Amino acid sequence: MFKRLILTNIKSFAQAYIPLSNFTLVLGTNASGKSNLRDAFRFLHGLSRGYKLADVLGGKYEGGDQVWQGIRGGPYEFITQGEAGGFVVASLEPHVWYTIAVRHLSDKPPLIFSEILNVGVDDLYEAEETEGQRLLKTRIKAGGDFRKGQVESLPSDEAVLTQIADYYRGRTDEGIQAVKAGVLTATTHFTNMQFLDLSPNALREPSYPGQNQLGDRGENLSTVLQYLIEEKEHKETIIEWLRELTPMDVADLKFQRDSRGRVSLALVEHNKRITSVESASDGTLRFLAYLALAFSTETPTTCFIEEIDNGIHPSRLKLLVELIETQTKRRNLQIIATSHSPALLNLLSEESLNNALLVYRTEDSPHSNVKPLHELPNFKEIVERRRPGALMESGWFENTVEALEFDKAQPA
Ligand SMILES: Nc1ncnc2c1ncn2[C@@H]1O[C@H](COP(=O)(O)OP(=O)(O)O)[C@@H](O)[C@H]1O
Ligand SMILES: [Mg+2]
Repeated sequence: MFKRLILTNIKSFAQAYIPLSNFTLVLGTNASGKSNLRDAFRFLHGLSRGYKLADVLGGKYEGGDQVWQGIRGGPYEFITQGEAGGFVVASLEPHVWYTIAVRHLSDKPPLIFSEILNVGVDDLYEAEETEGQRLLKTRIKAGGDFRKGQVESLPSDEAVLTQIADYYRGRTDEGIQAVKAGVLTATTHFTNMQFLDLSPNALREPSYPGQNQLGDRGENLSTVLQYLIEEKEHKETIIEWLRELTPMDVADLKFQRDSRGRVSLALVEHNKRITSVESASDGTLRFLAYLALAFSTETPTTCFIEEIDNGIHPSRLKLLVELIETQTKRRNLQIIATSHSPALLNLLSEESLNNALLVYRTEDSPHSNVKPLHELPNFKEIVERRRPGALMESGWFENTVEALEFDKAQPA
């Protein structure tokens, strides 16, 4: 699980400290920086796939097909405007810190200028740019002592993180093994991520048996659900959730095959009427996708979900929150979700409310900032008297941080 992220000069964040929990709801007005936070996670994920920095930021092609969409705005907009370089620090369980710094010069490909992997109190490696060369001087702390450790030169157009295992292929000495183990922990965290942005069209697409991983737009929903409810014990739980979540339209699920062998989901109502996936309601399909995500063993550990309340009626949000809060805990999944819904905010448990983050920009500064709701002055007392959704609607969150920033700016 990600414990926190620290961003320095990344997109609209000049300096942001972002604590993360099993379920982190991200709030903020339009253009406050919520999706920029998602971009920072995608950056780490792209690196962990072993892509070159220019491809992570710009987009990656393999065999003529795009296999990875770059970060919005590409390499020149990944770093805060007017800055020459930026840092991303990720803190992971248990006690793993990964730091990467990137820079770009106009007309040149972006480069990594510093990288550190730290486990517990030990730095496993430290890499820094070599003057005038596109190489990272990498000190490996093998054997517990940097001075006795090894210095390698690795290309600075790709993360050292994904180069080390290959570089030391076959090496079994203890120090190098420890470095490889640390590298594996970090890359496993970063690869195990998904960025969900559901689209009704994709949710409706039929899929082939064996396609058991939900796509970012909701592709493969039909076969993911079919696979899930093959297990009897799973089926009962899922149907139970379904009946509660969608009391009007789903009592059971059916799966139909077309002439090409593709599977489409159909919804069976209590009165036995069957609705094909094409005519099912968008909101119901979104719900089914979240259900699939919550129960499928193929779900990556960390999911970033854009506008989680989108298309879902406020009266059903309660169950969605319950589903997320119970399943993230039970399965140790991590969900980071953006939302504009005061109704959703009202339904959060005390713990989720405290862990929710406000992303904001103040009038005097072009930069985004992040503040956990529980750090707002007197938040605990205020939400005993007023519902958090009402505070959100009235602009209380933004006004409060604006006032705090104003106080900070006054001379003592
Ligand atoms: N490289 C950058 N430097 C400074 N600001 C940036 C940079 N890239 C994006 N932004 C700012 O981020 C805003 C978009 O933020 P975004 O995260 O998409 O908003 P939302 O909270 O609606 O998801 C833009 O309007 C722009 O002001
Ligand atoms: Mg956005």
